Amino acid sequence: MGSTILKKVILITGCSSGLGFALAQQLVGNKKYRLIITCRENSFKRISEAFTETEEVILRKLDVTLDLNINEIVDEVCKRWGRIDVLINNAGVCFRSVVEHMDFESEMIQLKTNYLGPMSLTRSILPIMREQKGGYIINISSVSGMVSMPTMASYSASKHALEGATESLWYETKPYGIKVTLVEPGFINSDSFKRVLFSKKAQLSHELRGPHSEYYYSMSPFIEKLMNFSFSKPTTIARKIIKILEKENPPLRLRVTFDAIIFGFLKKILPVNLFHKIMFSLLPGTKKWGFINLKSTHHREQRMIS
Ligand SMILES: NC(=O)c1ccc[n+]([C@@H]2O[C@H](COP(=O)([O-])OP(=O)(O)OC[C@H]3O[C@@H](n4cnc5c(N)ncnc54)[C@H](OP(=O)(O)O)[C@@H]3O)[C@@H](O)[C@H]2O)c1
Repeated sequence: MGSTILKKVILITGCSSGLGFALAQQLVGNKKYRLIITCRENSFKRISEAFTETEEVILRKLDVTLDLNINEIVDEVCKRWGRIDVLINNAGVCFRSVVEHMDFESEMIQLKTNYLGPMSLTRSILPIMREQKGGYIINISSVSGMVSMPTMASYSASKHALEGATESLWYETKPYGIKVTLVEPGFINSDSFKRVLFSKKAQLSHELRGPHSEYYYSMSPFIEKLMNFSFSKPTTIARKIIKILEKENPPLRLRVTFDAIIFGFLKKILPVNLFHKIMFSLLPGTKKWGFINLKSTHHREQRMIS
């Protein structure tokens, strides 16, 4: 088991911060694995300062939205190590915007990063896993893959898409001995809220008073607060993921934070209409939503953002 050749090869995306960084940190030095730690070009300095390349750890630039980049890395790893045993699709971005303020470009960034990219990477690795008669694909989803919140439509759509496709994949790869898991964190105590993206119109609505401004004023600090109160840090979640790496029969869905377990339970037991009514009543500032619809501010916002 000490021989390098028997060590499993794990490829992780989005390792410059948060969960990806914690996973890489905890896996480096683990004698069972060889690692490909990846992140986008702009953040490469961060991972090259934090991790050292060795015989068993390589650092690479990988933007999951670029097919060429994906193929290059997969080819290189195959030439070097001849296999890929675990793919952890962790990279993700999160837009905060009401549906009305999203635009095509922002939708594409959201979907390419959280859904289309992970699917491309999965597609390029699956033939290798089939040939080696085994492998494990871990897709980092979210509570937003099971429930949707206001101002998070596009993010939720990307995670729902990831959930749907991953569920199909579970059936499709089972006969080949390839395991599949959706990891579903709820709120993680990290500073990833600082990296939230805003569409142009959402950004302007933050700055101007308009019909949707109250959604942002109430939801942004609410989400930030819940993240700060969460017991789950990226390191806690990374540990849970590493625990399932060697499981013979890992679950299709793994809820890794307390709120994710509660949301899953409530969704299961409550009639769907009641669930949404309760959710609405629990959200902050709902009484103000839609009440700043003064004609003048509405027109001002429309003029500025159209
Ligand atoms: N934070 C939470 O509360 C939470 C809750 C549920 C689920 N999740 C999910 O957990 C995963 C990790 O999130 P996190 O909290 O650790 O967020 P994070 O700290 O913002 O990390 C996201 C990582 O994704 C990378 N990334 C973004 N776009 C990329 C692209 N096109 N190609 C490759 N890498 C890209 C970022 O790299 P750059 O440095 O290049 O931007 C960063 O390393 C995500 O899938 C997220 O949706 C997070």
